[in-house]
Amino acid sequence: MLKAMPNFDALEPAYLRDQYSIKWNLYPEGVLPLWVADMDFPIAKEIKQALINRLEYNVGYPHMTGDPRLVSAILEQQAGFGWTGLQPEHLMFVSSVVPGLYASILGLTHAGDEVLTQTPIYPPFLMSIRDHGRVALENPMLCDNNGWSIDFAHLETLVTDSSKVFMLCNPQNPTGRVFTRAELEQLAAFVLRHDLLVISDELHAMLILEGEHIPFASLSPEIAARTVTLTGPCKAFNTAGIGGGVILSNNLDLLNRIKAATKGLMGHPSSFSLEMWRVGLESGGTWLEETLHYIRANRDFLDSWLRQHLPEVRCIPAQGTYLAWMDFTKFSFAKDLHKILIEEAKVGLNDGPPYGRGNEGWLRINFATSRAILTEALERMERCIRARVD
Ligand SMILES: Cc1ncc(COP(=O)(O)O)c(C=O)c1O
Repeated sequence: MLKAMPNFDALEPAYLRDQYSIKWNLYPEGVLPLWVADMDFPIAKEIKQALINRLEYNVGYPHMTGDPRLVSAILEQQAGFGWTGLQPEHLMFVSSVVPGLYASILGLTHAGDEVLTQTPIYPPFLMSIRDHGRVALENPMLCDNNGWSIDFAHLETLVTDSSKVFMLCNPQNPTGRVFTRAELEQLAAFVLRHDLLVISDELHAMLILEGEHIPFASLSPEIAARTVTLTGPCKAFNTAGIGGGVILSNNLDLLNRIKAATKGLMGHPSSFSLEMWRVGLESGGTWLEETLHYIRANRDFLDSWLRQHLPEVRCIPAQGTYLAWMDFTKFSFAKDLHKILIEEAKVGLNDGPPYGRGNEGWLRINFATSRAILTEALERMERCIRARVD
């Protein structure tokens, strides 16, 4: 039976703590979980209704090439971002984005090849490179008072003849960076100079808080010819348990390489994901706008709260996503803080090390929750940290 839906301000931990949710069940009862990238908000009513309708009349095999209405909606969305010239055959539907990242690594590289990426980075980037014997070259982002930026000088020192792919995350999880056209063009010049292919994960493209989303493949025909882009519905519409994703490329040869390397392994897209994705793109705009409004306000609240209560913590406000990357390294116990916060403060965040080398003492927070839960979690953290510092 469907539970009555709360509004965003009135979310109750008891309501959210459902057996089904890994976010709310990984840590012991009483811990406020602000970690894995699920929002605590109810999904759009249009999507909920579409899923109920789908259950009532057909849950058979979907088209492997997607519902033509969904294909049109995706092409239209990308054209709206400035990526024109995509055709239906440029889409390869996948069960979700992470299998698409692994499939792309398998299809576009060989064991021993090097793959460059910016750290800190969503851990499955590094896993998809290393799990099949490829070599991850980590290029740490620079962080100063102006925010996060790409260290192009260091990037040049990393690249070798064995480097084959640059793996981009835009908007970037966990820093929340939305890269500017100038930065992406500089990156494009780099990949052209070193003859690299690009895997661009743009799953958070609809969660823009500042600036605009620019698909990497939209920069030029030369760049489109060497790029595969991954996206899906689950971050924008909060439907991670349903799955769904797509690999997009103007270059059919790249898609064929991915298909050949993963023949028989990729399953078929879920009919629920295709349906909710279509309805989300066609009718979920108002929900998304309201949700982004709430997330933006939480982002600003987090920023001013930290300045006031925990000024030792460095945290650049996210330009996209609903995640923030927080630097606790001013505290002597920072590298143990993830565990301390769970055990003593009863707050569950993501620990830094899986996001790449040198991230001890950093934690990721997910602020897509009610203001009350966010405030309670921050106050618990403050009390715990102050009890150790003062
Ligand atoms: C950048 C990025 N890519 C992929 C994923 C996971 O995608 P999926 O659930 O579609 O496999 C996430 C989840 O947080 C993410 O942040």
